[in-house]
Amino acid sequence: LRQIKVDEDDFGLMSYDPAFDNTASCRSSITYIDGERGILEYRGYPIEQLCQRSTYLEVAYLLIYGELPTREQLDQWVYEVTHHTFVHENIKAFMQGYRYDAHPMGMLLGCVGALSTFYPEAKRIDDPQERHMAAVRLIAKMPTLAAFAYRHNMGLPYVYPDNDLSYPGNFLSMMFKMTELKYRPDPRLERALDVLWILHADHEQNCSTNAVRSVGSSRVDPYSAIAAGVAALYGPLHGGANEQVVRMLEEIGSVENIPDFLAAVKRRERRLMGFGHRIYKNYDPRARIIKEHAYEVFEVTGKNPKIDIAVELEKRALEDEYFVSRKLYPNVDFYSGLIYEALNLPKEMFTVMFAIPRTSGWIAQWLEMLKDPDTRIARPRQIYTGARNRDYVPIEQRE
Ligand code: ACO
Repeated sequence: LRQIKVDEDDFGLMSYDPAFDNTASCRSSITYIDGERGILEYRGYPIEQLCQRSTYLEVAYLLIYGELPTREQLDQWVYEVTHHTFVHENIKAFMQGYRYDAHPMGMLLGCVGALSTFYPEAKRIDDPQERHMAAVRLIAKMPTLAAFAYRHNMGLPYVYPDNDLSYPGNFLSMMFKMTELKYRPDPRLERALDVLWILHADHEQNCSTNAVRSVGSSRVDPYSAIAAGVAALYGPLHGGANEQVVRMLEEIGSVENIPDFLAAVKRRERRLMGFGHRIYKNYDPRARIIKEHAYEVFEVTGKNPKIDIAVELEKRALEDEYFVSRKLYPNVDFYSGLIYEALNLPKEMFTVMFAIPRTSGWIAQWLEMLKDPDTRIARPRQIYTGARNRDYVPIEQRE
């Protein structure tokens, strides 16, 4: 906090908060988090109840429109999303232009941005119908783009959406269908995926949501704003962490190596991926639910042996003064990667699995930002620390 006005043009008093530790960037009524007590609510509904009783598409509606839908509203919403899952054939061609080994998050990022050119009418962000259509299209097409990216990497033909299936069932079909026969997803996997997507749907002003709001405040179209969210989520300290967790567990290799690994973390040579959170200073409630569902998925897929290392790592970290004093607990990414691995997904797909459901949260936050009369273009100040008033030096006189 700088308090001294140093010259005429100076701002005088300015808060310096580069990571927004203590700066609210907006008012919001979407997601409530109590990080000290480990509470997460969407529109006031506890995450535990939503995971037990709702579906991802219903939760997406709740986040975006503020209330749980009536039966009629839900049917209409599901119908609309289901009937916008196809992408333009040129988007498919766009996808085919990527290198065979392109990271699927990079592919997704490019394709989501490209959607803005396919739906130029979405620029009319003051039109509620256009905003609604963009929400439907983005939620509907994200799993299709994700599955196309996966199959591109695998060198497999793309599978078109099957509108008879549920939202997660259709995704499983586009990912794993191998024959002409109709794909019949295991209902336990469908449910586990739906719960994972409920848990990842929103998390107030995290890095990617802040990116969506910040870019959206320029009043750009929603596809471009959401592409900014995908870009932010790509980073290893945000959505990329679940991929890093599995790599870390692979490297640890067996339970006997845990003490050495934790010692390296305490010497600051390593970071315990999937642990710690800017807001949660208690057990992340999402991690608890994912851990339970991991065992249900393993009933179908067979157990992922890394779960034993993860559980032991958690136990030892939670008994260790280093982690206890810093209030470091497992976060949402600690167990999710193990489920994705059991589903046979390559690690590069893990962050994509996060982007699919977070789309509904990004849209809800983007809409809320547009409707807030206080919204102006996001434009932070800076504390300038460089030189002033220098005379230009011709190149031949420079040393
Ligand atoms: N392993 C070891 N030490 C850690 C970890 C960790 N995962 N996280 C924080 N710490 C330590 C820091 O070194 C610091 O110690 P110090 O006070 O002695 O210097 C202290 O805990 C506070 O950490 P900060 O870095 O200030 O915490 P911040 O809020 O900036 O970071 C973050 C939060 C980025 C999530 C961090 O905990 C981290 O890197 N975790 C691992 C990556 C991860 O799992 N990310 C996913 C987050 S959830 C999500 O994005 C969906």
